[in-house]
Amino acid sequence: MGLKPLKKKGEIMPEVDESEREKQFYTDIPVKNRHFFLKGCNNLDWGMKNRLSKIFNPKTGKTVMLAIDHGYFQGPTTGLERVDVTILPLLPYADTLMLTRGILRAIIPPTFDKGIVLRASGGPSVLNELSNEEIAIDIDEAIRLNVAAMAVQVFIGGQFETKSVHNMTRLVDMGNRYGIPVLGVTAVGKDMGRDAKYMRLASRILAELGVTYVKTYYTEKDFDTVTASCPVPIVIAGGKKLPEKDALTMAYRAIQDGAAGVDMGRNIFQSDSPVAMIKAIRKVVHDREKPEAAFEFFLEEKNRLEGNKKRKT
Ligand code: R5P
Repeated sequence: MGLKPLKKKGEIMPEVDESEREKQFYTDIPVKNRHFFLKGCNNLDWGMKNRLSKIFNPKTGKTVMLAIDHGYFQGPTTGLERVDVTILPLLPYADTLMLTRGILRAIIPPTFDKGIVLRASGGPSVLNELSNEEIAIDIDEAIRLNVAAMAVQVFIGGQFETKSVHNMTRLVDMGNRYGIPVLGVTAVGKDMGRDAKYMRLASRILAELGVTYVKTYYTEKDFDTVTASCPVPIVIAGGKKLPEKDALTMAYRAIQDGAAGVDMGRNIFQSDSPVAMIKAIRKVVHDREKPEAAFEFFLEEKNRLEGNKKRKT
């Protein structure tokens, strides 16, 4: 049996390429192999890199993560009693939000289109041994919430060290299966050291066992050795509330010493002027503004915002 005759031109496939223009293959332009901008991340898959680009700004290679997950073990932390009132005004200035799924669902508008780093471990409250954590989410939930990364606390030297390391490696396996990065948080217990030797040990173990990036504390001395010996990006936690100028200085020094950004909470949301503070932190992290200039900016911005508020009342 013969083939059916073709229909009139255009009737079979309306979208067929009928352009009269000569095809152009640019044979004189070699295809470029592009290097991914984050340390140690070049061999990750496309989905991972795409998610990391929602956390780190590809132009500067840095991030200002706003950490508001403190309630997962210590309840309504000062400054986070009403996330809807105090944190929503900060969202335009954060590159990424680090938080629990409870606060995300209840309060954060789903139109927020920057990275979400989801708290993925938990269990003990401040009333108990903090290192006794478990994995606190299913990977399906992380996918459903369209997160950019999952964060897990790891207690090197802590009572439940092995358990928390195992939480981390299981999350890394789950994340790798679906292209979701894992942020390993070096948790420092009450009696544990906070010096460069400890941070080098903890950060390196986390990186060796597969986390995509690491959060650690800044150390006054030798922090550059912590970033140098960790093969993946490091961001610093803010820690306890400091005077604004000191917090800006810490962020500046961390960036100078090779950090890829901050994951800062209390030093922003417990500031007298959280919006002015997060904007000043952005200047230090993304523009490498010196701490003195960033502090001047903070004061000006704070005065301006207070003036606006007075005029409205
Ligand atoms: C604390 O356990 C959380 O992981 C916080 O996200 C982290 O400590 C950063 O917040 P802060 O800058 O307040 O230390």
